[in-house]
Amino acid sequence: MVKNIAVIRGDGIGPEIVGEALRVLDKVAELYGHTFNYTDVDMGGCAIDKYGDPLPEAELKKCVDADSVLLGAVGGDKWNDVPGHMRPEKGLLRLRAGMGVYSNNRPAKIWRQLADASPLKKEIVDAGIDFIIVRELIGGIYFGEHKTEGDTAIDVLTYSEAEIERIGRIGFETAQKRNKKLCSVEKSNVLDSSRLWKKVMHRLAEEYPDVELSDMLVDNCAMQIVKNPSQFDVIVTENMFGDILSDEASMITGSIGMIPSSSLGATKCGLYEPIHGSAPDIAGQDKANPIGTILSAAMMLRYSYDMTEEANAIENAVSAYLDGGYRTADIMSDGGKLVGCKQCGELIVKNLKKE
Ligand code: IPM
Ligand code: MG
Repeated sequence: MVKNIAVIRGDGIGPEIVGEALRVLDKVAELYGHTFNYTDVDMGGCAIDKYGDPLPEAELKKCVDADSVLLGAVGGDKWNDVPGHMRPEKGLLRLRAGMGVYSNNRPAKIWRQLADASPLKKEIVDAGIDFIIVRELIGGIYFGEHKTEGDTAIDVLTYSEAEIERIGRIGFETAQKRNKKLCSVEKSNVLDSSRLWKKVMHRLAEEYPDVELSDMLVDNCAMQIVKNPSQFDVIVTENMFGDILSDEASMITGSIGMIPSSSLGATKCGLYEPIHGSAPDIAGQDKANPIGTILSAAMMLRYSYDMTEEANAIENAVSAYLDGGYRTADIMSDGGKLVGCKQCGELIVKNLKKE
């Protein structure tokens, strides 16, 4: 197959980690006879420096016109003082909204090789950590009105029934493909938007009788993720709660550097990115863990292109690499062999085999 991939290297460690993911994709193309064409897109701080805009329209268009988009990370201290509507992160939010990718899928799964890297007690880890956070991505407080008037700042949180329903359905469908348990997370003891969220989820539940729906308040969920993570199969939640809980969930699996994500809307053109940030403190030092981005590329093959075998091949190559005892600094533990970003990518490519 021939696929056109828009590639956003971004800021900080972005260019390094994306470079390794492309190395892996090139190897997949060679093994399976595909052609992946890459179109570079400027977004984030680098686009502010170049065009004075974190995502110019022409750059967004390249993404919308592609078959899918691979993104490293954006942002950094250098752009901290630019006005809110011009921040690098604004480019990312505009990209998500412009592509209409309302459903963000963030797996929290512990690799058996990395059980020691989890900060949780062994018996909690041994009970199993394997769940998915389905995060609403283009609504809620992220996209409400933001303004500052004198000494008062205002951020507006809005959800319509239609917005809740479309992400709710993804939650139910994701659970149907797994262990059929869906936990809807909200703050219905305080927020109107959460009470609407809960009502819509329960109405939808009637259409998915094979899925067991439960409700959980977000503060309790934050606690349960560290206390008893094995209880979760699929969590569905709104934009900001999903942002916070997914960082927490990633950490219990060992490192945020390992976690990929997919974002999809009405079409197969998805956005794939690791859930970590641009880590400016280690940028350009060949220290970053590219696995979150490499696994995001695997998700791209699986969800946008139905290339299941190819996606499995990448995931197996990552597993074989970890079996070899190699570790980037973020997941280093006793007895591991320290490697940099580039060597990590090269070793994963070496382990790639046609399934
Ligand atoms: C994430 C990030 C972004 C978000 C930032 C960079 C805007 O934290 O993808 O989780 O809050 O969505
Ligand atoms: Mg986040």
